[in-house]
Amino acid sequence: MYLNYYKIKKHTLKARKLVIKGINTAGSGHPGGSFSMAEILGCLFVKHLKFDPKNPQWEDRDRLVLSKGHAAPGLFSNMAVAGYFPESEIETLRKFGSKLQGHPDLKCPGVEFCGGSLGTGLSYSVGIALAGKIDSKNYHVYTIIGDGESDEGQIWEASMTAAKYKTDNLTVFLDRNFIQQDSYTEKIMPLDERLEGDDLSEMWKDASRWKTGDKWRSFGWNVIEIDGHRIEQIDAAIAKAKATKGVPTMIISRTIKGKSVEHMEDNPQWHGKAPNSDVVPIINLELDSQFMIAPSIIAGDMTNLENEVKRCVSGRADYIHLDVMDGQFVPNKTFDHNKIKELRTLTVIPFDSHLMINEPVKHVRDYIDAGSDVITVHAEVTDESSFGEISDLLKQNGVGVGLAINPSTELPEWSYRFISSLDQLIVMSVVPGKSGQKYIEETHAKMARLNSILRQNNFSGYIEADGGVNLENIGSIFADGARVFVGGSAIIGQQDIRDAIRDFRSEILKSRRQTMLDKANELGGKELVNKWINLHVLGETKDQIRKIAQEAKYI
Ligand code: DX5
Ligand code: ZN
Repeated sequence: MYLNYYKIKKHTLKARKLVIKGINTAGSGHPGGSFSMAEILGCLFVKHLKFDPKNPQWEDRDRLVLSKGHAAPGLFSNMAVAGYFPESEIETLRKFGSKLQGHPDLKCPGVEFCGGSLGTGLSYSVGIALAGKIDSKNYHVYTIIGDGESDEGQIWEASMTAAKYKTDNLTVFLDRNFIQQDSYTEKIMPLDERLEGDDLSEMWKDASRWKTGDKWRSFGWNVIEIDGHRIEQIDAAIAKAKATKGVPTMIISRTIKGKSVEHMEDNPQWHGKAPNSDVVPIINLELDSQFMIAPSIIAGDMTNLENEVKRCVSGRADYIHLDVMDGQFVPNKTFDHNKIKELRTLTVIPFDSHLMINEPVKHVRDYIDAGSDVITVHAEVTDESSFGEISDLLKQNGVGVGLAINPSTELPEWSYRFISSLDQLIVMSVVPGKSGQKYIEETHAKMARLNSILRQNNFSGYIEADGGVNLENIGSIFADGARVFVGGSAIIGQQDIRDAIRDFRSEILKSRRQTMLDKANELGGKELVNKWINLHVLGETKDQIRKIAQEAKYI
């Protein structure tokens, strides 16, 4: 079973937008903890959970217990996107008579547990896991607990019980976002080692410092530590949990409270607070502006691609971009599906296979079987019928569907009917064939033309910029609408990939902040620009954003 990366990504984006809509309409609610668990719920709902929204009480369904019940908007939004009720119902959140209350309630069909009184959801989960065993049922119980919630002694009683009764049909996620209602968890009741004097938002990056997992290990659990926003890591952890017999599994998921909206991220204020209506459109734009970095390994040592993949892993790449060249569609030859299959064993990071080959319809199956997560074929060598075939095959196999166009190619008319279901559009900004070429400036104008076609045809995918992307031009390429950035020479060609990726991210972030300010200025002039700036209270962000606004003469 393949990753289904873009399906999960799109589901999660929709759910996040509904969280904002619901909480804004209600005037209260908990965005922070809804966003920290967003990818976890996305992976569960899209890929792992067995459920039937038309028959919520189906006996064999998997059970999802949201123990940290205050994150109910996150649960309801996922349920809406998954089809339990219309998405518009999220606007009844917290209203009298609505089934969508501030905390999950059984009056909402599909909700398993009345969460909110913290500490109790895990005990309940152990109970239903045991009941499943007694009744010889195959269902799995997934439970989400919070780190603030772990202050409750009942969590640890339940932990002992689960281990004693070998509830291997129970998988728990600890949403480890380091923030609880009043402050940072480590200040109130530390779960990790003493972290005094540390920059709390930095410390999590050093996984060797995480001690929470050791607590659970000592209680007899199978423990897996992951980055709780990385879809591929969540997915791999769930697969491992399901395969583990004789003990329950705890997935310690390092997450960021308020993840995806810069002013909410890591900010305790957004534990439980509603965004104002005037900033909602800016927040939605920010949610639409998430981005991924995809190093292209052919820019490295072609005799040791294994090492290039390892460098991408330690550099925290979002994707690994694999440029397949057949010596026919382009003059060069690189590698084929056999190499991809070998590399696949090295990492779970999504493989973004860019097929610069003739007649891709004949070969696409091999690239699916090799373990690609996204496959992009060229418009120059496909037509309506062959691309339709490719697209169907990719979708059936949970692989993202990509189409690429060369610098001299416009989107062909036949492709319009695929636009709304396309996951990725690669806009080549060099003539394909090798890395290290110069970005073709005309691409900026082309992107403007493309954007209007894409909008008219309901594109909900991601534009990938490929060729000659570097620190100087990446900001303007983001402003053009690209959201995935291939980096050959500018990333793989560098000594320190991690630094290079970090620099890429910070350039994109600058451009993204500008985009948000443009929107604020367009919607509410100086007043809204100032309001937006002042939401950014942590660290030096506010100053940096203010500077951008001043340079743009918005304030
Ligand atoms: C070009 C490839 C690109 C290229 C990127 O045919 O599709 O992915 O390797 O390398 P740079 O970033 O160096 O142009
Ligand atoms: Zn490429």
